[in-house]
Formats: sequence, C-alpha cells, structure tokens
Amino acid sequence: MDFTLSEEQLMIRQASRDFAQNELLPGVIDRDEEQKFPAVQIKKMGELGFMGMMVDPKYGGSGLDTLSYVIAMEEFSKVDSSASVVVSVNNSLVCWGLETFGSEAQKEKYLKRLATGEIIGAFCLSEPEAGSDATSQRTTALDKGDYYVLNGTKNWITNGNTAEVYLVIAQTNKEKGHKGINALIVEKGMEGFEIGPKENKLGIRGSDTHSLIFNDVIVPKENRIGDDGFGFKFAMKTLAGGRIGIAAQALGIAAGAYELALKYSKERKAFGTEISNHQAIAFKLADMHTQIEAARHLVYKAAWDKDQGNNYALSGAMAKLYASQVAMETTIEAVQIHGGNGFVKDYHVERLMRDAKITQIYEGTSEIQKIVISRDILRD
Ligand code: CAA
Repeated sequence: MDFTLSEEQLMIRQASRDFAQNELLPGVIDRDEEQKFPAVQIKKMGELGFMGMMVDPKYGGSGLDTLSYVIAMEEFSKVDSSASVVVSVNNSLVCWGLETFGSEAQKEKYLKRLATGEIIGAFCLSEPEAGSDATSQRTTALDKGDYYVLNGTKNWITNGNTAEVYLVIAQTNKEKGHKGINALIVEKGMEGFEIGPKENKLGIRGSDTHSLIFNDVIVPKENRIGDDGFGFKFAMKTLAGGRIGIAAQALGIAAGAYELALKYSKERKAFGTEISNHQAIAFKLADMHTQIEAARHLVYKAAWDKDQGNNYALSGAMAKLYASQVAMETTIEAVQIHGGNGFVKDYHVERLMRDAKITQIYEGTSEIQKIVISRDILRD
C-alpha cells in the first residue's frame, strides 16, 4: 500500500496552505464577529480553480481528483471554515450533482459558471420538519405539463443569499413517497422566490445561511435534474460525496487547532518551563495528533474510494462521523491548552471550537451517519 501523495497533490496542498495563510487568515476574526461573507476570498478561489476542482476542464473545472479536493479542504478549514463550507457546497453538492446527473444543456447553462466561481450555488434539502428525515419534504413541485409550480420553505441553506443557482428538492407526488420527489434548478430572481433573514449562528458565522421561501415559483421542466422522481436519490447520492468534503473540513478544523496548541505549548512557560514539557500537556498533544492522523486516513480512504469508483457512502459516513468527533474533542483540548488565552478571540482556537460543532450537524448529523453505517454493516 502506497501512502505517498503525487507531485500534483503536494502542489495543491502547498497552494491551498499558502492561500489560507495569505488570503483567509487576514481578517478572519473580524469576518466571524461581523458575520461577513468572505466574498473577495471566494472570488479569488474561483480564479485559482478551487470552486470547481473535480469538474471536467471542458466545463471550466480543474479536472482534479477527490483526494486533491480533500487536501485543499483541510488546508482552508485550518483557518476559515466559513470560506471552506462555500467551497465544499459548491464543489461536492452543486457542481458534482450537476456534472453527474444534469443534462448537457444544464451543464452548458449553469455548470460552467459555477465551476469557474463566476457564480456560486446552493443545495436546498432541509426544511423546518425535514432536516434528518429527508423523505418528508413539505415543499411541493406540482407538475403542470411544461413546468412545475414550487411552493414551500427551505431552512439553514448555506450560500442562501449569495448563490445565484439553487438545487431545490421538492415533493411532486406524495403518494409515491421518496419516488415522488424531484430536484429542480431554481435561479435567483425567479418570480415568487424570496430569501428569508440571515441566521445568527454559533459558528461558521461568515457563511451566509438563510431560509428560502417559494411562493408559486414557475420552474420550467428543462430545469429538472434527471428523470421524474429521481430527486431523492439525487440528494442521497450527492450528499454521500458531500459528506467527504465536510469530513475534510472537520479534519482541517482539528488539525488547525492542534497546530496552534502545539506552537503555543512550546512558547508559553509555567512552573519554570515551557508547558509542553509538562506531561499533562504533552499527553494531550499525543492524543490529538493520533486522533487527527486516524481521521485523515478515514477521509483519504473515502476520497480514494470515490476516485476508484468504489461505493463511498459507507466510508464517507465513517469519515464524517469520526472526523467531526475529533474536531470537537481536539478543539476543546486546544482551548484548554491555551488556558485563559484560549477563551479570547485573538488566539483563534475558540472560533475553531465553535466552528467544529456544525460538522456534527450539517450534511447529516452524527446520528444520521450512524444510521447509514449501521444499515450498511447489518445488511445481509
Ligand atoms: N446512494 C444511492 N441511493 C441511496 C442512498 C445513497 N447514498 N441512500 C439512500 N438511497 C436510496 C435507497 O436505496 C432507497 O431507494 P429504493 O427505495 O429504490 O431502494 C431510497 O434512497 C430511500 O432510502 P431509505 O429508505 O434509506 O430512506 P430513509 O427515509 O430511511 O432515509 C437517511 C435515509 C439516510 C436517514 C436520509 O434521510 C438522510 O440522509 N437524511 C439526512 C439528510 C441530510 O443529510 N441533510 C443535510 C442537508 S444538506 C446540507 O446540510 C448542506 C449544507 O448546507 C452544508
């Protein structure tokens, strides 16, 4: 088994690390405090090819593998998860979903602009009463022949106001259960499409999370992704890959907090020596390092499965479950190692601790990942 990264993957790591340090780090505390969307940074990421990393170059993408994508996600997330969630949603959910299941016309019209970062997209599944229980969609897309009429509300939508293109999951035929659900491409500005107020969040405060309201929005049939009734499977298949991106985000948050704690422990003195010389701190660092490495192996394995054409729903769910748990535990320890300084914003670790929590919630809570994993291992 060869664990060596290719030259290209090492270059991606260096480029994303440099970008994180030079472009994401400056102002990250203020953007978090002011809930300011990293618009300038996202635009530059688009110019550098980070918004459509896995998309075929013929549609404006970078044509890279999933491993390169998770490597970049880890580096961005060490510093700014408000930016990396935009990268994740645009790459894994919107671009991948459109490239894999969209029509040629949809790819020409939407994917090219999304993959270059000219515009960004949103993935709209969650509802007030259908967060985890995704088949219970209340949003309806009634079939009127040449078009659908969309009504309902979506909640906690990442890129809610900044997106131009929205992939919306809605119920067309309730009697058919999940086989009556469709995925529609909705454009900002369509009549009857309203953007609700911005959410004031615990973490990833720079990202732009809104509810969306659809009042008799007319969506042409050509905007449906896949066949009639494919919407739920579209969402599940797309989320299976999305979870690898969020697992990489969690890994990055954990690694970022660990790196800060390691550095701090070698500088800060107490009881006559650097605190890293106290076993109480050294053992914490040893645990953090080990857990992060284990999480990285799970994330890379899931990405590798996807690149090999293997089933990655199980490995992606395991990577997300474990990496998000490590993110939470590691960031709490990083705050502890920083002591009083860990509790103030200037040292970054309190933000990483707040950001870690969402990785156990979005794109399927930890409990959802356990459903996916247990169903897989218990299947005959
Ligand atoms: N790939 C392909 N098909 C899949 C699949 C997958 N990964 N997962 C399920 N399916 C198929 C099943 O095979 C089944 O098809 P058949 O009936 O033809 O056999 C169908 O989908 C229904 O599956 P289930 O019976 O398993 O459905 P369920 O109602 O029991 O739910 C669930 C399964 C895993 C709990 C699902 O509801 C789920 O994943 N919920 C969480 C939703 C979620 O992740 N939401 C996040 C919102 S997006 C977000 O957070 C983005 C953001 O802003 C960052």
